[in-house]
Amino acid sequence: MNAMNGKPCAIGVLLSGRGSNFAAIQDAIASGALPNAEVKVVISNRKDALGLAIAKKNGIAAISLNRDGYSSRKDFDTAICNALKSHQVKLVVLAGYDRILGEPVLSTFANRILNIHPSLLPAYGGKGMVGEKVHQAVLNQSEIESGCSVHLVTQDVDGGPVLGQSKVPVLPTDTAASLAERILEQEHKLYPQVIQAFIEKHQLGAAEDAEDAFV
Ligand code: GRF
Repeated sequence: MNAMNGKPCAIGVLLSGRGSNFAAIQDAIASGALPNAEVKVVISNRKDALGLAIAKKNGIAAISLNRDGYSSRKDFDTAICNALKSHQVKLVVLAGYDRILGEPVLSTFANRILNIHPSLLPAYGGKGMVGEKVHQAVLNQSEIESGCSVHLVTQDVDGGPVLGQSKVPVLPTDTAASLAERILEQEHKLYPQVIQAFIEKHQLGAAEDAEDAFV
């Protein structure tokens, strides 16, 4: 618990892979850099995601849900929504989640879902713009800078309002992999900062519990 008083903001993380952004968020919470926040549950659509192992190691509920186990995309997203709700999640954080999120999650958590994308949105975002493809496209266009963006998740893939960005130079010697690595370092700093600012701005942390005290 990192809240000064009351309960911290309950965060639900969705991820599909190594989970380095989740780990950075967890580190920021542990060090006090991201106060008034607690990751309550980590959900992955891939059971072998390293991020799930990180969650377990930290004593955080780790749930694996496989799309193949559901007859429709909506049923699958309903299961995700129910898992988030059952952990009283107030803020959903996508950290390398490789599916497009749909209903009922989008409306249940409207304006309360964040994502990080490894480009300076709106450039190099949208459907299919994932992983190395993003960085290769940046190199192909001979850009001199790139970076990462944290944005609100809406129906428009990578198109929600941008809440924060970090820039890095693109070097003449860069490969997609080296550029990805330089940007990832910035992601790990940017995401906790933007989450912190978001929780404060929308009073999702301890302040909200002060109201609960009067109920
Ligand atoms: C990051 O590059 C992020 O920008 C993108 O997916 C990647 C996730 O990496 N959305 P990790 O799983 O957090 O290490």
